[in-house]
Amino acid sequence: MLTYEEAHNRAAEFGQGHLFQFWGQLNEAERGALLSDISEIDFPLMRRLIAHWVLSEPEPERFEHIAPVPVIPLNAPDSAEAWAAGEDALRAGRVGLFLVAGGQGTRLGFNGPKGAYPIGPLTGKSLFQYHAEKIRNLRRRYGCILPWYIMVSDANAEETSVYFEQHDFFGLGREHIRFLRQRMVPCVDLAGRFLLEAKDRLAMNPNGHGGCIPAMVESGVLEDARERGVDLLSYFQVDNWAVKVADPRFIGYHVLRGAEMSSKNHRKNSPREAVGVHCLCDGRYQVIEYSELDLYPQLLETDERGDVVYYAGNPAIHILSVDFVQQVYDHFEAFPWHRAFKKIPFVDESGALVKPDAPNGYKFETFVFDALQIIGHAPVAVEIQREGEYTPTKQFEGDNSVVAARRSMASLWSKWLEATGAKPPRQADGSSAIAIEISPAFALDEKEFVTNSLGHDWPIDTDLAIGAAGEIERAAPAAQTS
Ligand code: UTP
Repeated sequence: MLTYEEAHNRAAEFGQGHLFQFWGQLNEAERGALLSDISEIDFPLMRRLIAHWVLSEPEPERFEHIAPVPVIPLNAPDSAEAWAAGEDALRAGRVGLFLVAGGQGTRLGFNGPKGAYPIGPLTGKSLFQYHAEKIRNLRRRYGCILPWYIMVSDANAEETSVYFEQHDFFGLGREHIRFLRQRMVPCVDLAGRFLLEAKDRLAMNPNGHGGCIPAMVESGVLEDARERGVDLLSYFQVDNWAVKVADPRFIGYHVLRGAEMSSKNHRKNSPREAVGVHCLCDGRYQVIEYSELDLYPQLLETDERGDVVYYAGNPAIHILSVDFVQQVYDHFEAFPWHRAFKKIPFVDESGALVKPDAPNGYKFETFVFDALQIIGHAPVAVEIQREGEYTPTKQFEGDNSVVAARRSMASLWSKWLEATGAKPPRQADGSSAIAIEISPAFALDEKEFVTNSLGHDWPIDTDLAIGAAGEIERAAPAAQTS
């Protein structure tokens, strides 16, 4: 940690001397907190970001030629081969799991880490627990460990590790779960001055999910993966309840094509859907953000059937090769940064806390999908169906919400129940009339569900392998065996 002299000089040198304006009013502990925040800052980087993003209005990047990215369709003829290759990689212990859970979860507004959100409508099981139950199932199937690396940040690190302790690491063994902390970045006002959120604390935000690249290398996680013989990382986001963790088909395509980074893609519902689009831009693969759609009118085109031409929406599900992460880290200086105009609470000159009701400053972040730009050869893009794979929970109600995610899972699980011959009640519009939960430890897909539920009574047992908030008419035994 920097001394007072060093921190003071450094801040003054970079035009941030105001950080010490309350120094005379701080006690020893508060002074320590301020020095600790300042010691974390990469001042040369911040100067670069402020000059580019705040003190000038940068021109958006223009591309001469944009093409839709080639996507492996759902029913590609080699999908069985990919599945088998993925299963081989899993059995050989080559796969680790990488979960990004360091975000602030501001839109959901839950009091605790987003992963602790009780997403299960019947059980109140958390997002973390759902992911853990998927891992339990995969371990059973493939006899592998699947070490689980979880990225957290100052916003939630302590609470997340306490949560895992309280739940005894979901029976997965603490030695196979490792937390790593991403770096924080100061928030700045419209003049490029760092904001204080208290007299002794800077307003900071985690450095975006792209921060997983330096975090993996600097925390020793990449080394740990190598020592365990893991060369493939299945990357997913904590708020995607449905995500297929370590999906054999996806891993298989990555392996068969010798890829460095692979992505899943879902079809966009409409040209203006609020999702990034995976494209080939002047020979470089990248995700064009939703906010930039209007810069590229072709991205809004539809074909004669009304389908979006640039349809490859980015649900943030990837496979990263361990060596590739190291390669991106070695060039991380050139990794792109993005800015977001936000409402940032701060203390004013008098030391009073101000909660602005309109955006008053910028947060800076990196995005993991920008690593696609660095790839030596074509990345692998694999199509998925949203239902059963992508239920982002950004807020409680509306698009990408808890309510929408529960509806989507009830719809999926109703189909699984129907595959056993049962008749779960449906509304007039076809959606499920009741809340349903099926533990992923019990079944990860319809086929496994049908096999495992033969001969079971359900709703069953305390673990709620299968639960429904209402009566479900069971199939007659003859129907089940036919
Ligand atoms: P989002 O960008 O949706 O952010 O993150 P969020 O924190 O969940 O929610 P808001 O925007 O504050 O409402 C998508 C995923 O990336 C992770 C999040 O934890 C989530 O799993 N993430 C995001 C990080 O791990 N670190 C970050 O700095 C940002």
